[in-house]
Amino acid sequence: MKNIFVSGATGFLGGAVIANLLASQSTNNLLLLVRADTAAEGLQRVKENLRTLDVASAALEKLTDADILIGDFTNVAAFSDDSRLDTITHVINCAAITSFGKNPLIWPVNVDGTFEFARRMAEVASLKRFLHVGTAMACGDSQQSPVTESWNVAPADEHLVPYTASKAAIEQRLHEELPDFPLVVARPSIVVGHTQLGCKPSSSIFWVFRMGQLLQQFTCSLDEKIDVIPVDYCADALVKLLLKDELAYDLYHISAGSGSSCTFEDIEIALADGLGQAPFGDNYRQVKEEDIPQLAREFEARLGPCNRRLVMRALRLYAGFADLNYVFGNGRLLSEGVEASPLFTSYAGLCAQSTRHLSIQQQMQCDFK
Ligand SMILES: NC(=O)c1ccc[n+]([C@@H]2O[C@H](COP(=O)([O-])OP(=O)(O)OC[C@H]3O[C@@H](n4cnc5c(N)ncnc54)[C@H](OP(=O)(O)O)[C@@H]3O)[C@@H](O)[C@H]2O)c1
Repeated sequence: MKNIFVSGATGFLGGAVIANLLASQSTNNLLLLVRADTAAEGLQRVKENLRTLDVASAALEKLTDADILIGDFTNVAAFSDDSRLDTITHVINCAAITSFGKNPLIWPVNVDGTFEFARRMAEVASLKRFLHVGTAMACGDSQQSPVTESWNVAPADEHLVPYTASKAAIEQRLHEELPDFPLVVARPSIVVGHTQLGCKPSSSIFWVFRMGQLLQQFTCSLDEKIDVIPVDYCADALVKLLLKDELAYDLYHISAGSGSSCTFEDIEIALADGLGQAPFGDNYRQVKEEDIPQLAREFEARLGPCNRRLVMRALRLYAGFADLNYVFGNGRLLSEGVEASPLFTSYAGLCAQSTRHLSIQQQMQCDFK
């Protein structure tokens, strides 16, 4: 019997991880870290999230108040004396502030709080693995593609946003300051949608592709590739890395890699197909980052009601990531027996269908909290 601790249980990836664990044949005890006032409220929040992933009622019934640990990484001391932590065998740490903005909690949560929590778990004799979910973009903006896994992450001034700098910093701290800790870091690339549910669980980042399609303009060339994976594939890979008895490495990308990354052109064709529309073909125009303000005049006409400044900021940010043109090597993951990721083009149409009732502005909300 494994006693599995999951943080970020109300988030996109944490929810998909719990859905995966609940669907598994093996019986595992779960302890879920949730921000809430009471265990009942915490359980309610977790279940609401799992319903967006179509988790069946029978599986939801398996979860009770006893599976909830109320806690916040800004105050680890407030929950660190809970004795249930001392029985944990496996941790999967999905909690983080994932905003690309300048959220003042990024460092206190993603670095200080995460480190405090890991230090607490380092005292647990039964702990076999602490799987920390990082991000492939911890590598910074100066790498050659395909990017390989390395503990030498980029310094803060080589990151496009504070969020990825914080993720790089915490990996470094965990690796250097807790040397005997059973740490494994898994770095997902870009997680978009779900192979069966499209964007029902979350429209995170999907709207960037839809916005490029509606504007018929973006900063990348159509033959460039982008490394995108679906949340259910990512969760499955994470659970395998969490529970496999022996791993060859302590650091993995969870990515599409060269074999499963798709071109922007193929993605646009798949989106158009999903919506029953003609692809934009020759109408596409590649623009420079400095041209983005001129696009603003067309925002409302093409995207519907929206906050121009926010859309412009988002375009600049995501153009910065897309222009890096990174593919993240997945050889280590495949060598552990994890299958290659499905192509984004195989379910991008479903993502488009599942968001057609939402404006771009509504879809963006989850990434600008
Ligand atoms: N999604 C991607 O494309 C992607 C790609 C690469 C890496 N990752 C990594 O994957 C992990 C999960 O990302 P996600 O997309 O699932 O993010 P998400 O949907 O924003 O979920 C974040 C989770 O962290 C929790 N959290 C935030 N602040 C907290 C705090 N102070 N104390 C405790 N929990 C807190 C949130 O709880 P509340 O509901 O209470 O806010 C939520 O459950 C992150 O580490 C992220 O860096 C994600």
